[in-house]
Amino acid sequence: MKAPKTVYVCSECDGQFPRWSGQCPSCRAWNTLTEETYRPQPKQSAAVKRVLSKEIAVPFSEMEDQNSERIITGIGELDRVLGGGLVPGSAVLLAGEPGIGKSTLLMQLCGKADDNYSVLYVSGEESKGQLKLRAKRLGVDASDVLVLTENDLDTVINEYDRVSPDVVIVDSVQTMVSASADSSAGSITQVRECSSQLVARAKADGAAIILVGHVNKEGGIAGPKVLEHMVDAVLYFEGDRSQSHRIVRAIKNRYGSTNEIGVFEMTDTGLDEVDNPSAMLLAGRPKGVSGSCAVCLMEGTRPIIAEIQALTTPTAYPTPKRMADGIDYNRMCLLLAVLEKRLGLKFSQCDVYLNVIGGLRIDEPAADAAIAMALTSSFKDIPVPADLIVAGEIGLSGEVRAVSCAEQRAKEAERIGFKKIALPKRSIQKKPMKLTEAEVVPVSGIYDFAVILSNAVKELEK
Ligand SMILES: Nc1ncnc2c1ncn2[C@@H]1O[C@H](COP(=O)(O)OP(=O)(O)OP(=O)(O)O)[C@@H](O)[C@H]1O
Ligand SMILES: [Mg+2]
Repeated sequence: MKAPKTVYVCSECDGQFPRWSGQCPSCRAWNTLTEETYRPQPKQSAAVKRVLSKEIAVPFSEMEDQNSERIITGIGELDRVLGGGLVPGSAVLLAGEPGIGKSTLLMQLCGKADDNYSVLYVSGEESKGQLKLRAKRLGVDASDVLVLTENDLDTVINEYDRVSPDVVIVDSVQTMVSASADSSAGSITQVRECSSQLVARAKADGAAIILVGHVNKEGGIAGPKVLEHMVDAVLYFEGDRSQSHRIVRAIKNRYGSTNEIGVFEMTDTGLDEVDNPSAMLLAGRPKGVSGSCAVCLMEGTRPIIAEIQALTTPTAYPTPKRMADGIDYNRMCLLLAVLEKRLGLKFSQCDVYLNVIGGLRIDEPAADAAIAMALTSSFKDIPVPADLIVAGEIGLSGEVRAVSCAEQRAKEAERIGFKKIALPKRSIQKKPMKLTEAEVVPVSGIYDFAVILSNAVKELEK
């Protein structure tokens, strides 16, 4: 008998190759090829396909509306990230590192299931006893939730057809095995096959499906990138496991805005929603210490105040050390270069460490000003005034560019108790701010930050 052919599949672009290589020949990603068994697809001639095809084009006016009534999960922060609840007939991928709290969140969701929606919880990872124990620990009453501990996809789909639930939870998609793909559970072929069958089945019936996905070493979803295209929303469960808060972030959402975040706190009785994330992120902020600066970020539609910390020390290495946690490394290098060139701060002779408190990840250019302020403050060893907050994008010439939603940011900062809000001049000129107590400080370039710091020294000396 002929040995089955093997093929190497790229987890990034889904390309298939006859030989292994360190770099994918198609998308150029490194270490993404994994060995799979090759299964040729049964071929059908184009003419037969045409005869069998039943789908016809219809005008827009004759198309039926999708049920737009959302299923409110009852977990406010999750509903916010989803754009107002689960959409019937949609698929959501919830991805996160091991032990971050995915199953906990979904178990809590089960507890919220009431007469409005029914849930089928499929677990391929835990036994019924384990699930019951967790529900007990979390104080969740999930008596009406149907539980299926099974890995076989056909059994799952049969049960799905039998009970026809409103919400299906599959924890996790990497543990499901389909007989139509003969590779092991968790392989790219299996993940793709199982997800596409589950999503298609749920969509045809108008059920909302939540797939749990594991995250690989590099932080991406373990499985082909196509998995992200197959679903309607991709939620990432983030957070520093050494700390108690967790963030659920929408990376993609066909039914709501992306970059929306939900904030939770992990306690021994489960995940508690955090209504005021700014206050939580600023708790324990040191006073009178250099290198710390607050920034107001827009996470989707919500303004959130975070703290950026910088530490610069004279280097003992031929090449200075740079470390950025929660901030893009290249963005940090760019800002260091701008500060060195425009303000003459010799960062090239310093080790630089940057950190965003609370395991938050910042992608917004509006955080540039706070990063620059924290770096300058640490370099000069002058504390940033505790009641000052900054926002603004920094250009290569050192200019501070306008930011979006300036008023929303300023109002959130004022609510938290900041007295001075440094904002780009152009953002203020566009629209006068309606603030009650806080003072708005216009900034046009990074030189203004140096001035703010030297004024802070004068204040301290008084
Ligand atoms: N008895 C307990 N007391 C307090 N916290 C607990 C307890 N058991 C679990 N936890 C918390 O719950 C977390 C595990 O959550 P959960 O099992 O939901 O994670 P997960 O993302 O589903 O993990 P996996 O990918 O392994 O399935 C632990 O990291 C811990 O923080
Ligand atoms: Mg789990």
